[in-house]
Order: sequence, then C-alpha cells, then structure tokens
Amino acid sequence: MTQLYDEPYRPQFHYSPPRAWLNDPNGLVYYQGEYHLFYQYHPDGLEWGPMHWGHAVSADLIHWQTLPIALYPDSLGKIFSGTVVVDQHNTSGLVPGGGLVAVYSYDTQTQGVAYSTDQGRTWTKYIANPILPALHKDFRDPKIFWHDATKRWIMAIAAGNSLMFFSSPDLLAWEQCSTFGDSQGAFTYEVPDLIPFQVGGVTRWVLIASVIPGAPAGGSGTLYYVGNFDGRVFTADPSTATLWLDYGADNYAGTTWNNHPDGSYVFIGWMNNWLYAKNIPTSVWRGAMTFPRELTLVETTEGWRLRQTPIAALGQLRQHSTQQGAFDLSGEHAVTGLDSVPGELTVDFELGTAAQVGVWLFGAMEIMYDRTAHTLTVQRPDAGLTDFPTTISAPLSPDALGRIRLHLLIDRASVEVFANDGLLSLTNQVFPQTQRPQITLFARGGTARIASLGTHWLKSIHR
Ligand code: FRU
Repeated sequence: MTQLYDEPYRPQFHYSPPRAWLNDPNGLVYYQGEYHLFYQYHPDGLEWGPMHWGHAVSADLIHWQTLPIALYPDSLGKIFSGTVVVDQHNTSGLVPGGGLVAVYSYDTQTQGVAYSTDQGRTWTKYIANPILPALHKDFRDPKIFWHDATKRWIMAIAAGNSLMFFSSPDLLAWEQCSTFGDSQGAFTYEVPDLIPFQVGGVTRWVLIASVIPGAPAGGSGTLYYVGNFDGRVFTADPSTATLWLDYGADNYAGTTWNNHPDGSYVFIGWMNNWLYAKNIPTSVWRGAMTFPRELTLVETTEGWRLRQTPIAALGQLRQHSTQQGAFDLSGEHAVTGLDSVPGELTVDFELGTAAQVGVWLFGAMEIMYDRTAHTLTVQRPDAGLTDFPTTISAPLSPDALGRIRLHLLIDRASVEVFANDGLLSLTNQVFPQTQRPQITLFARGGTARIASLGTHWLKSIHR
C-alpha cells in the first residue's frame, strides 16, 4: 500500500488535504504564532459536494498540520467561501478579550458569522445568522479587513457581474457602500480581495477577483485592478487591458492572509481550474494550493503591476544547490543537478540570435519564449489529462538587460513559472509519467546565452 503523502502526484511542498476534495482557500489569517488555512472541503468524496471548512495551521506557511473540520453545514445551508479576521477589541461582542471571527457564505447566498476564542480550534455559529440576506442570486465570498481611516470593517463580496463593498462597526450590521463592475460587464466574479499597498508613502489599492469563465488559459482564473479606495468606493485606474494575476490554467479563488505579522501580503490560490477540476488523476485526495507568494506593487514602464515572489521561507527546503553560467546555448542542453522532484530551477536567458528559448521538462511540458511574438508559452500536450487546455500563452518582454529570466517551482504534479522577477506568473498542473524532471534547456533558430543557471532540490514537507 502506498503511504499517505507519497502517492503518485501527491504534492511535496504544497498543501493538499490528507483525504478528499479541496477547493478555495478560506479564512486566511495569522493569529498568535499560527497561519490558518481554512478551505472549501468535501470530506465524503473526491468531487465537489456539501461544503465544509477544512482547516490547517502552520508556523511558516510551508509545513502544515491538518486539524479537524472547522465549520460544518447547518440548518441555513452548506458553508461556502469566506474570511476570518482578528477581532482584537471585541467589536462584535462575540469574543471577549479578543478572538477570531469568520464571515462566510452559505450556499443559499446569505452570509453567516462564526467565532472562536480558542485559536480557531472550535467555532460557534452566531445565533442571529444570517447577517446579510441574498442580495443577488450569486452573492458570496466575503473578504474583510479593518480600515483604520474610517475605523470600520470593510467587506468586499462578489455579486455576479459586479463586486460590492459594505462597511460595519461590529462585523454584524453591514451598510452597503458601493458597487464595482467591469466596464464591459464581461466577467462573473467570485472571491474578491482588496489590498492596500504602501508605495513611496502613497497608498495604492489592488482589487483581486476570480472570474469564471474568461480566464486567458480558459475556464477560471484570477485578475486584478489597481486603483484607489476611499473607505466606500473603489475606483480603478483608467487602463485599457485587464491585468491577470496568473496566466496559467491553475490558480483560482486565491486571497491574502489577514494580519500578517510583518504587514506583508501573502497570497495563496487553489491550484486547479473548474474546467476539469474533478477529472485530475489523483485518488485519496483531490486538490492542492499554490505555493504562497508575497505580493508587492511595482511601477513598470507599462504601469503598476503586481509582483509575485515565492515566500522567502522556501529557502529552508533547499538542498544540493548548483549554480552555473555563463555559457552559450544552441540546440539543447541537459540540466544536471536536479534528478528528482520536488525542485527549483532558475535560468536567465540572453536571447543572442535565437528565435526561441526555453525549458522542456518531464518529457511532458515545454516553457518557451518567442522573441517575435513576445510571448511566454507553456505547452502540456502530454500532461496526462484529457479536456485540458494544452497551450497557454502570456505576453512577456525581455527585462532591462535584454534577458528572459525564469524561476520554476516544480512539484510532482505542478510547475509554477515566475518570469522576470515575478512580474508574470503561470501556474499549471501537469501529470507526468515520471518523477524525474529531465530538464532540458533549448535555443532554436540561433544561439542564445545562459547568463546563469541554478538548481535546488527541495526537501519534502511531509518528512
Ligand atoms: C469559487 C467558489 C466560490 C464558492 C465556493 C464553493 O471556486 O465557486 O464562489 O463560495 O467555490 O465551493
């Protein structure tokens, strides 16, 4: 019998539940030395079903301890996605001395409250639930933060083609403030998050939302708007294009941790796509999270952009690191030093005369930059799934030094690509025949130069 956590395709440095179905991360909050990860969980099956909140905790966002289910369905409905905040000053009156308050959706699209005064170990549902009625047929996925300027709690919540904002003094009575809609009304939103970034003494706000369908790789995906929030209304900077947080097929319903101890914003998403989520070839469990990424907002020649950086704590998993460069590349070059997964690869390409450069791995996935098209394309023709978008492209330009810089996080069933210091991210599942990454670099139509090449084996978080 295969040991739990060593099954084929079992993630080795990403969170996955011991057993059964997982989707969205929920209630991300740091409290008293622990990061909490709640998640949409169907404990009785390998497909989506009656939703509960699963629960795991971690001291470092990497090694997770799975705890008992936190929230069970009740007479008001099944428990959909939502948020947890630290109600330090007991504004709700529910947590004397301070504690955790969860605000979540019921599948009936009403909103409920639950609270915990024992570090999230046990939860009590608020007696007067629901606290908000179903104001729309798809009214769900609240995310809440404390807004110091107005001394109120702010809720962002999805309502079909728009996102709505509410405010409250006590997490229980909510006043509607505004509605934000994509100008073309083109998207159906789920799971919003609203984040203030301090950049050069100015606060700039980023509104993240998941959309289904309409993502660049097909199916479900995550976009963002950069703009301003005045305590009631979010106004997006005028921009011609939709900004995608991830161009890959497999990063959905992600949000950031509330109350992060150093004030940073760390994002995690469900590493799957509603197009085929129930068909991915795992048994025992189904579904995993992305690796946590720190978000920062940076000014580029094209405007403000989110940058995603795998959290620095990843460093503690690294072993047997190699570093080489520079050397010329024409044709193919087999990368040595990373004989099994999980692992990490960093490679900086100088394009030289090459028309295309890239990485081929697992005998199943190609990551290729095309200098004429200015695109980074991931192909996964032999990814082990049918019904699966196989060609996934994103716009990319060389950096100021004329380089294409790739950083790959490689697990048994996923490759997360961060390009040019995380200004572009492509997260994709792959279900290869082998656990040997068999990494090959290539240059086509000319000679490129590898300015630097690094590999790390990563220790499994399960051992
Ligand atoms: C997003 C979503 C949410 C909903 C939850 C149900 O993936 O559809 O809108 O709350 O999943 O599991």
